[in-house]
Amino acid sequence: MDVLKAIYQRRATRHYSDAEVTKSAVFDLIRAAAQAPSALNQQPWAFAILHGRERLVKYSERAKAHLLLTSDPSFGLDPRVDQYASAEVNIFHGADTLVLICAKPGRFWPMQDCFLAAENLMLAAQGMGLGSCPIGFARPWFHLPEVKAELGIPANLTPVLPIVVGYAALPPPAVEKHDAEIICWHWDE
Ligand SMILES: Cc1cc2nc3c(=O)[nH]c(=O)nc-3n(C[C@H](O)[C@H](O)[C@H](O)COP(=O)(O)O)c2cc1C
Repeated sequence: MDVLKAIYQRRATRHYSDAEVTKSAVFDLIRAAAQAPSALNQQPWAFAILHGRERLVKYSERAKAHLLLTSDPSFGLDPRVDQYASAEVNIFHGADTLVLICAKPGRFWPMQDCFLAAENLMLAAQGMGLGSCPIGFARPWFHLPEVKAELGIPANLTPVLPIVVGYAALPPPAVEKHDAEIICWHWDE
């Protein structure tokens, strides 16, 4: 797929079909992620793969419970509270696969590098006919030492961004994007 087409067509996908993502597709996605640029070419990323719809439903319940427990008292005013509180809501949107991008310690700009890897992964998914969605809501739960230990994520790695991937059940809705704002443009002819 043309890269500009992938950029313009990628949208956060929040409805997934029953079609399963294959292991080989996941390898393709993380290989594409690992092609991202990184400061001093330090490539400070590592990937945890969590697969299985039921597994992700259980993690969603635990991540929501953690958010409700740990959020600020003024959190009740947050309109997203419904998302955390409702038993009906799966914060992973019914996807069967989650890739958690983690940063290795002691590097130069690990968070930024991992976000570049994340965008590579999502654009690769688009090119492969897969939908994707970053799930920031789940990040605090993945930071818990006991959750990292349970999943086999080394304590010294920092979970940066969970991304669900899967086959879209419905085309994701269009999202309005602002025109790119130009602050200044110094261009010598
Ligand atoms: C860091 C980050 C965290 C996000 N967390 C969530 C999330 O927890 N749940 C969700 O449904 N979408 C999440 N999103 C997706 C955004 O809501 C989405 O990218 C935004 O609405 C723009 O839509 P688009 O991706 O279709 O262009 C997140 C996106 C980013 C970059």
